[in-house]
This record gives sequence, C-alpha cells and structure tokens, in this order.
Amino acid sequence: MEKSPMYYGSYLHLEKILDSQYPVSFETGNEPAHDEMLFIIIHQAYELWFKQILFELDYTMGVFQKESINDNSEDLNLVRHRLRRVIKILELLNQQVNVLDTMTPMDFLAFRNLLTPSSGFQSKQFRLIEAKLGLQIDNRHQKEYYKRTNEGGFTQPDYQDINQTESSKNLQQLINDWLERMPFFDAAYWDFETSETTIEHPFWKQYRAIYKAGLSEREIPKLQDFDYVFFETSSKDMNPEELNLLKSSFSVKAMRAALFIMLYRDFPVFQSSYQILDSLIEIDHLMSNWRHKHLIMVRRMIGMRVGTGNTSGAGYLEGALNKHYVYKDLSGLSTYLIERRKLPKLPESLTRFLGFNAQ
Ligand code: HEM
Repeated sequence: MEKSPMYYGSYLHLEKILDSQYPVSFETGNEPAHDEMLFIIIHQAYELWFKQILFELDYTMGVFQKESINDNSEDLNLVRHRLRRVIKILELLNQQVNVLDTMTPMDFLAFRNLLTPSSGFQSKQFRLIEAKLGLQIDNRHQKEYYKRTNEGGFTQPDYQDINQTESSKNLQQLINDWLERMPFFDAAYWDFETSETTIEHPFWKQYRAIYKAGLSEREIPKLQDFDYVFFETSSKDMNPEELNLLKSSFSVKAMRAALFIMLYRDFPVFQSSYQILDSLIEIDHLMSNWRHKHLIMVRRMIGMRVGTGNTSGAGYLEGALNKHYVYKDLSGLSTYLIERRKLPKLPESLTRFLGFNAQ
C-alpha cells in the first residue's frame, strides 16, 4: 500500500492537542468564563515545555552516569549545548507569566471555584524537574504537603513516580561524582607526597595565603569558612548553626574541583566544564525567578486566600521560593575567588596533562 504523504496536522497530532481544551465554565449549567480558555492553554503550554526540559535533563544525566567522561568529548559539548537550551526555555517560561497577567483577579474569580481542589502544585512534571535537578524531599518547604495523596495532593501513581525519581541519583549528585573524579590535585602532578585532602597541598597552601591576603579586616572570618567549605576543618569558635549554613550539598572534594574550574575557566580545556557549572547556576536562578514571578502573580490574583490546592497559598509559595535552591553552593563559590592576576601558576606536568601551555 502506498504511504500517504506526511501532513503537517497529522505529523504533529494536532487533532489531539487542539482538542484538549475543555473549559469547565463552558459546560451546560455554568456561566462561561472567557479567560478560562487562556488559563488552560497557558498551563498546557507550560507542560509541553516541561516535557522538553525533562528530555534534556534525561540526556544530561545519561552522560554523567557514565563512569568516565572525556572533558574534550562530544558528550560534554552536547550537555553544554542542551543545558543552554533549558536556559532559553526557562527564560521563555518566565516571560509567559506576562500573558497570564492580562487576566484580572475578577476574571479569575469567575471560574476559580470550579477548579478546586486541583492546582499547579499537582504538576508532576514540575516536581520531576525539581527532583532531577537535585531538590530532595527533606529540603522541601512544608514537605508534608508533597506526601498528600488526598484532595489537593497527587494521585497514587504520580506520587510513586515522583518518589522513585527522588530516590534515584539526581543531577546534583552526578555532578558531584564527576567533580570528585577530576585529577587536578593528584600527587603525580605536584611535588607532594600525601593526599590532596590536606590543606598542606602546595596548591591550596599557596591559594589560601593569597585568599587571606586579599580579605579586608571585616572579611577575615571568611578564612574559617574557606577551611570548612573546602577541607571540613572547623575552629572552636564556629557554632553549629554557622556550620550548618556553610554545609554544602557537594562533598569538599567536589567543591575543591569546582573552585579550581571557576578559577582557571579562561583556559580552553576548562571551558566545557565551566560552562556546565555556570548553566546549572543559571538554571537555579531562572527557576527561582519563575517562582518569584508566579508568587507575585498569585498575590495579585488571590491575595492572601488559600490556594485551590489547599496550601496556605502565597505563604507556601514564598517559603518554597526561599528554600528551593539546588546549586547555591556553586554560585557561592564567588566568595572564595581571588584576582585573576594572582592565580598560582600551575606545574608543567599538570598543564601538560590538561593539554594546554600555561604561561
Ligand atoms: C491564576 C493563575 C494562578 C494562580 C492563582 C496560581 C496559584 C497557585 C497557588 C496558590 C499555589 C500553591 C498551591 C495551592 O495551594 O494551590 C500554586 C502552586 C503552583 N503553581 Fe500556580 N497559579 C496560577 C498559575 C499557574 C501556572 C500558569 C502554572 C504553570 C504551570 C502554575 C504552576 C504552579 C506550580 C508548579 C506550583 C507549585 C509551586 C511550588 O511548589 O514551588 N501556576 N499556584
């Protein structure tokens, strides 16, 4: 049988997509609310983009699941490229809030009660994005909300899928493993016998001294933070709360490698690694920007009323905004940078291994 030529509408399955908007207020017996169509379409558009983000994150995680990755490989370059794509999508999703803002609070009230108890809170794909990026249940604001499978919570199958993703290795943990494998401080490249974990390693000894010399009097306590963040050594005058604030979701070994990449980012060999770390920081920022835009929109739309999903509404969203960062330890590395011109010169054996000529 002859195959029929490809047709735009059937290739895209538009018959399904464009036949998926059913405003409840348009049903018999209800007062049609014009803006409910926009409300449905905007959520559907978000969900489609969430699907694409998950597709890119799955690719990225697949690469980092490999036991070893060549820094100059195609894989790493594709990860870099696809994470940039996630960034562009998130920028678009932030813009999209402006379209919803054309709906007034009274327009929303016209159909709001018909939605209860459903809510964007139940977006499984949004939860999967957060979980894959590395947001863990224990670090979630009001974590008991997430365990609800009654009204306003998830269906059992959705809850199980989210749970399963949360208990699998996430991107943050995979990045941690990748950073831990970086061989920058191996004894073979330095005139130094013992392990790299000590602050006495020639690179860190020199770096710490330069960092210290660059601190102002008020900033001197940052040296203790440096010792804790990169070497897990704490002085007696640091209290448990301070230590808790400094505690990173990355291991100290991974943090040392990340700082090293940040410092020597201008060398071509570090470009892919640096841009991947930078993309993760940017994704974290854009997720947070979205949470903020959504919060402001919600405040304007429903004030201090509870959400249709039965959380405290704006109060809950504000808590999530403040807490749901995954890569703040990477953005926080700026605390420990030094001026470029003061960067320690790297030993020749290391630069040879890394494949560039440092001057
Ligand atoms: C009139 C517009 C909107 C209002 C009034 C609104 C309101 C709310 C409220 C009050 C919550 C907290 C949970 C609850 O109790 O319901 C929430 C959560 C959420 N909404 Fe919306 N929302 C709106 C539009 C959107 C859109 C367009 C999206 C796009 C997907 C969305 C996605 C989400 C997500 C993902 C959450 C969970 C956020 C988190 O846990 O950090 N919402 N929303």
